[in-house]
Amino acid sequence: MNHRAKAAWDQLGLYRTPPLAELFHDPDRLSLLSARFDLPQGGGIRFDWSKTHLTGELLAGFEVLAEAAGFAAARAALFAGDIVNPTEGRAAEHIAQRGLGRDSSVEEAQALHERMKLLVEAIHDGALGEVRHLIHVGIGGSALGPAMTVDALARDLALVDVHVVSNVDGCALEEAFAACDPQTTLLAVASKTFTTIETMTNAESVLKWLGDGGVDDPGGRVVALTASPEKAVEWGVDETRILPFPETVGGRYSLWSSIGFPVALAVGWEEFDAMLEGAAAMDRHFLDHDGAANLPLRAAFADLYYTRLRGCQTRAVFAYDERLRLLPSYLQQLEMESNGKGVTADGQPVSAATAPITWGGVGTDAQHAVFQLLHQGTHLVPVDFIASIAPGDGLDPAHHRILLMNCFAQGAALMAGKASGDPARSYPGDRPSATILCDDLDAATLGALIAFHEHRTFASAVLMGINPFDQFGVELGKEIARKIDRGGETFDLSTAALLAASGLA
Ligand code: F6P
Repeated sequence: MNHRAKAAWDQLGLYRTPPLAELFHDPDRLSLLSARFDLPQGGGIRFDWSKTHLTGELLAGFEVLAEAAGFAAARAALFAGDIVNPTEGRAAEHIAQRGLGRDSSVEEAQALHERMKLLVEAIHDGALGEVRHLIHVGIGGSALGPAMTVDALARDLALVDVHVVSNVDGCALEEAFAACDPQTTLLAVASKTFTTIETMTNAESVLKWLGDGGVDDPGGRVVALTASPEKAVEWGVDETRILPFPETVGGRYSLWSSIGFPVALAVGWEEFDAMLEGAAAMDRHFLDHDGAANLPLRAAFADLYYTRLRGCQTRAVFAYDERLRLLPSYLQQLEMESNGKGVTADGQPVSAATAPITWGGVGTDAQHAVFQLLHQGTHLVPVDFIASIAPGDGLDPAHHRILLMNCFAQGAALMAGKASGDPARSYPGDRPSATILCDDLDAATLGALIAFHEHRTFASAVLMGINPFDQFGVELGKEIARKIDRGGETFDLSTAALLAASGLA
């Protein structure tokens, strides 16, 4: 981190924030700290940070930090397709999948999307026979995005019934088998590297299940989604059913590429395209706005304020919308795999905390389980509430009314607290939350919401001086698992005893 950025951090560290109740004495607080993002295709998202401790002074201090940390140059490098992942010598070009960025990468993405669209439409038209189910095997970024988006968008009208299976635990696959008929099931093998052991093991088992279920040519029912098409060919997938994506698209940023195949198959190409468009609208906002007017950057200011200046070790996300129940898991990978780092982009140990632990759940369920800790526990947990004004259900409007009332009540209660003569019944209050309120949760809004979080994560990384695009931390465990598999190695006493007890050694 350069001297100016360090000085900006030092300056921020001197700032003492008044309690939230006091901050609300300022009649302009709501207009200063809330903003609306409009989608060109209609609808939008309201962001409200007024119940966080951000103030005009803090925003100004963080703007100085952004300037000193070279935020504008880092963003320009991201959009130009320059190498922003120095440890792997790669660009990070998920944005090109949405039509922005380096011209040649945008053209390549468009051509690959065209190929994907043709295959999706051919399948809908019956080119591979009757297809009622898709078993999509993949893990991490090759599963979390598709699982979340299919769950959010394909509730009313799933053209194909999608089952995303990630865990190598056979129980996961058995659950999918129980819900599918081999005669009308396709297999999508989603893996950037096409070597991930969980995915390849699951893929083999699906092929066997198809064969055992009387499918003459199980291999003819496979679609590969990968940045390593040559490996898919080696594995036996016909080239006409390989949908490649570029190496410069990171796994946890790959929903927009062919990894989104199950989404397009479930909801149709138009909806998938609308999701890309919504994300592109957020990309343009991120590119065109500076300082606190840039919404993902402003969210990063709030995140860093709590993590670095208030010592919060976690941040919680509660979606008051059943359609977003998988969002916390998705954000866990996006934020923790990207920014859970111990060294800066130039290899120096970091001097302060990096990514908080992202956790969360769905409202109102979480209120009856974990909110006790948020209201009265000893941890300060900044919360994001996410909701939609338009309901996802067609039942009595009472359902949605109760859902939203509870969402807003929780934010108000966390902030206001309540004094009581009985310590066990008193609420300290002054607990922060931000609210993200969508007009509706359609495909474009979902795309914008996901892109908002991608950019928020990137902005945090720039302000901390770390590389959000590598993930070497996941490798050591894989290496040790391979050694166990090979045998002949010695391990610590505990591991050796566990291996012996389970018959693995
Ligand atoms: O082990 C972590 C990871 O590399 C993630 O970054 C990635 O999303 C996941 O594994 C799956 O990788 P692949 O798509 O290559 O199978």
